Amino acid sequence: MSSIYGKLFSVSTWGESHGEAVGVVIDGCPAGLPLTQEEIQRALDRRRPGQNSLVTPRKEADTIHILSGTFEGKTTGTPICLAAWNENQHSGDYAEMVNWYRPGHADLTYDLKYGFRDYRGGGRASARETLARVAAGAVASKILKLSCGTEILSWIESVGNVKANIDPSQVTAEAIEASPVRCPDSEASQKMAALIQEVRMAKDSVGAVLALEIRKPPVAIGEPVFEKAQAVLGGAMLTIPAVKGFEIGEGFAASTMRGSEHNDVIRFENGGYHTLTNHAGGILGGITNGETIHCRIAFKPTATIAQEQETAGCDHQNGKLIARGRHDPCVAVRAPVIVESMAALALVNLFLEQKARTFQF
Ligand SMILES: Cc1cc2nc3c(=O)[nH]c(=O)nc-3n(C[C@H](O)[C@H](O)[C@H](O)COP(=O)(O)O)c2cc1C
Repeated sequence: MSSIYGKLFSVSTWGESHGEAVGVVIDGCPAGLPLTQEEIQRALDRRRPGQNSLVTPRKEADTIHILSGTFEGKTTGTPICLAAWNENQHSGDYAEMVNWYRPGHADLTYDLKYGFRDYRGGGRASARETLARVAAGAVASKILKLSCGTEILSWIESVGNVKANIDPSQVTAEAIEASPVRCPDSEASQKMAALIQEVRMAKDSVGAVLALEIRKPPVAIGEPVFEKAQAVLGGAMLTIPAVKGFEIGEGFAASTMRGSEHNDVIRFENGGYHTLTNHAGGILGGITNGETIHCRIAFKPTATIAQEQETAGCDHQNGKLIARGRHDPCVAVRAPVIVESMAALALVNLFLEQKARTFQF
């Protein structure tokens, strides 16, 4: 099970949902980066369960501890180990999952692969693992912010059929966090919140699309063939639990456009190149052109729902399962910070590769 991501800024996540703790070891973080526990905690607080009635009621403090790799508030260049102890686990909620495979979840595929599984809370397939990505992402985001002024934002663009109507370039971090569903269009946000409550009451769940906007990305990062920036970014997004789709720029809509409409006019002005439009989404030939990178990420509805479902068990019987437990009715509401973190981890690796490539004597 590959739990290691990235070559130059490498993160290794560890821990299970109902084990002792979850965390990450970051190897390759440059020395001298100012880093405090508080700034990592701020990112984790956005992912935390129990924030409002639209997410899982599990109450986990998710307090992060820096166990190694910093001295006097700065990174030392040695491995950084970040850990959060697991609290408030209700392993009894998963008693049915010892025998029955949840439709839509990873219980069956883990058994097919390993023949033995930690069924408590979904074990390693639980989104609790993403806590580690968010902790590491806070460090990666800081490197990009300090080196290039990069700002990475993600928000909910649609929940089910309810869509936001908003100009992405005007979205701010404050407007996203002001909404209980993390949608900066306040009218759509209210409708989305109502829809999530409705599916929760119906013991069901709903999917969503997230926008990802990377402003002032490092220019000329991304490798031209197998490590194209869009491939690395898309790959990173598709590692997030429950993600089913990724689009960049116009995405699938580009297939219905004409070249004359889709091509972005290039201008040289004020000492630099820029494009008048951004249908490409900030990447051409696998390399960033400096324009904002714009992506969309589709999340499926939560697998574990409280209504009776037909399924099969590990004893080869067919039967019915009513899953218990405290689940998110729409997992995407807690996902923007996870999307931002995976984007930061993808970009920081490409950035450091480009730094190595352009090394001058
Ligand atoms: C923030 C977040 C929270 C999640 N919470 C739940 C949950 O409460 N219940 C659940 O069944 N799945 C939840 N998931 C999704 C599962 O982890 C995921 O569907 C499962 O591991 C199977 O993987 P797959 O959907 O990528 O194939 C969550 C995902 C994210 C990103």
